[in-house]
Amino acid sequence: MNAIEIRNKFLNYFKGKNHKIIPSAPLIPENDPSVLFTTAGMHPLVPYLLGEKHPEGTRLADYQKCLRTVDIDEVGDNRHLTFFEMLGNWSLGDYFKEDSIKYSMEFLTKELNIPIEKLSVTCFKGDNDAPRDEETARIWQENGMPKERIYFFGKDDNWWIAGDTGPCGPDTEIFYDTGKEKCSEDCNPSCGCGKYVEIWNNVFMEYYKNQDGTYTKLKQRNVDTGLGLERINMLLQGKETPFDTEIFKPMMDKLKELAKNDNIASRRIVAEHLRSSMMIIADGGKPSNIDRGYILRRLIRRMIRHLNKLGIDLAKLEELIILNTKILGEMYPELIENKENIVKTIIEEKEKFAKTLENGEKELQKELNKLREKNIDTLSAEEVFRLYETYGFPQEVTKEIAEENGFKIDLGTFDKLFKEHQEKSRLGSEQKFKGGLAEQNEQTIAYHTATHLLHKALQIVLGEHATQKGSNITTERLRFDFAHPQKVTKEELDEVERIVNEQIQRDLKVTCEEMTYDEAKASGAIGLFENKYGDKVKVYTIGDFSKEICGGPHVEHTGVLGTFKIKKEEASSAGVRRIKAVLIK
Ligand code: SER
Repeated sequence: MNAIEIRNKFLNYFKGKNHKIIPSAPLIPENDPSVLFTTAGMHPLVPYLLGEKHPEGTRLADYQKCLRTVDIDEVGDNRHLTFFEMLGNWSLGDYFKEDSIKYSMEFLTKELNIPIEKLSVTCFKGDNDAPRDEETARIWQENGMPKERIYFFGKDDNWWIAGDTGPCGPDTEIFYDTGKEKCSEDCNPSCGCGKYVEIWNNVFMEYYKNQDGTYTKLKQRNVDTGLGLERINMLLQGKETPFDTEIFKPMMDKLKELAKNDNIASRRIVAEHLRSSMMIIADGGKPSNIDRGYILRRLIRRMIRHLNKLGIDLAKLEELIILNTKILGEMYPELIENKENIVKTIIEEKEKFAKTLENGEKELQKELNKLREKNIDTLSAEEVFRLYETYGFPQEVTKEIAEENGFKIDLGTFDKLFKEHQEKSRLGSEQKFKGGLAEQNEQTIAYHTATHLLHKALQIVLGEHATQKGSNITTERLRFDFAHPQKVTKEELDEVERIVNEQIQRDLKVTCEEMTYDEAKASGAIGLFENKYGDKVKVYTIGDFSKEICGGPHVEHTGVLGTFKIKKEEASSAGVRRIKAVLIK
C-alpha cells in the first residue's frame, strides 16, 4: 500500500459511514490571523466546532495539508517533517466516543489490516477540569483492546488544544508498536523511545478554554480526529523513516546520485524542505522577511545551504523541482498546476540568497582585516552571530571562510545566542496563537461583516476586477488585499468609505443560505473562486447589497457595526493593493 491508497481508503471508509468528504483547505489559512499556516485538520473547521452550521452536515472527513514550523531545526533526523498530511474525520455535535472509537478500530484493523496486537491506546486520567475518561477506556475494551494496553495520562499527553484558548478536550491516542525492544521495565506509549509510534488522535472536543484559564462546555459535543499519513504509510511499509517511502525515496536517491559529499541528514533536509516550500508556493506563499514569507524563505535557504554542503550544483535545482512535481503530482495536483510559478519563485530566491552570501562575505572579510590589524586570530561568537542575524550569513559558511583565511572561530557562546534567537522567533510564531484559533468575539465577527461590505464597495468604485486576494482580521482592525493595478485615489477611498457607512446606516439584515457551489456562482455570489469548495457552500447575503460565499459567522444586521474608517491604503504585491480599516463604535 502507498500513501495515496491509504488516503483513498480512509476517505472511502468514512464516506461509507455517511461522512461528506470536504476538500483540503489551503496551507495558508483565509481569514485567520491567529496562525501562520494550517497546522491541523481542525483549523478550517473551528467555527463549526463552536456551533456554526456546516453546509455539508455534521459528519465530515478530509485530508488536510498541514505545516508545523516549531521543529524546523530538527528536520534531518529520521522522523521530523514540516509539511505533512493529516487524515481526519469529524462529528459536529453528531456521534461521540462510541462511534469514533469503533470507526478508528475498524479502519485500522479491517481496512488497513493492522493486527490488534500491534495497537495500544492512551486515555485522559482526569484532573480538576475534567473527569477521568473511563468511558473511553470501556469503549476500547468493548472493541477488543485488552485492558493492559489501555494507559491513562494527564493533560500533557491526553488533552488537545491548539494554542492557549479555544475548543479542546480529552483525547485518546492510538499507538503502533514497532516491535522494538522496550527501553525499560516501564516502557509505555508516552516514553518516546521509539518503540511506540502515535498514529491517530481522537479528540473529544466538548470544552472551550477561556482566557482566564477556566473551561466551559461547548454547545455541542464534537469529535476531531487526526491520522498522520506519512507516519502510517511508513509503518505499514515496515520502514524506519518516512524518507524511505515513495514520498521521499526517489528524491533521496536522486540527491545521492548527484552528491559529491554525501550526507544523509543534508539529503533529508533538502528533500523535506523542497517539498514544503513547493506546497507553500502552490498555495500562494511568497518568500519575504516576515511571518509566512519568512518561514518560506528560511526553508528555501536552508535547502540551498544543504545542496551546497552536498556539493550539488545549484543549476540542478530546477531539475529537482520538476522531479518532485512528478513524485508528488498525483497526490497534490496543485504542484503541477503551479509548476512554473514554483520554479520561478525558488530560483529567484536562490539568486537573492546568492547576493546575501556575497554581501555577508564582504562584511566578513572587512571584519577579518580588522582582526589582522589588531593581531587577533579568532573571530568571536558575537561576530559570527551578528553576520547570521544581520546578513543571514550561515554560521558554517563563516567558519569555512574564516578558516580559509587562517582564523579560528570561537563558537563558545554562538549556540547560546542562537538558542536565544530561536526562542525569540519561536515565541514570535507562538504569539500568533495567542488569541487561540477560535478568536471569534463580537469584534472579529463585526470586522468580518465589514470586510464583505468593503469588498463589494471596492468592486462598485474600482470595478469588478477588484477581487479579494487576502484577508486578515484581528480584534483591532481588518486588513483586506484586492486586485487593482494602481494606487487607489483619495476620492475613490472616500467613496468606498461612504458606501460602506451607508450600508451600515441602512441596518441591512444579514442572512445565510446553503446551496451548491454552482448555484452560488449562478446567483451572483462573489467568492474566492480559485479555491476549492465542497459540494455545498454557505452564502451570506447582506440586504440587497452583497452576496458572498463564506463560512461565517457574521453579525445579524449591519447597524451594529459602528462607523467604518479606512486607515491606510498601500501596495501589497504586484497588482495587489491593501487596505487597513477600523470600526469605531
Ligand atoms: N486536532 C488533533 C490533532 O491535531 C486531532 O485532529 O492531533
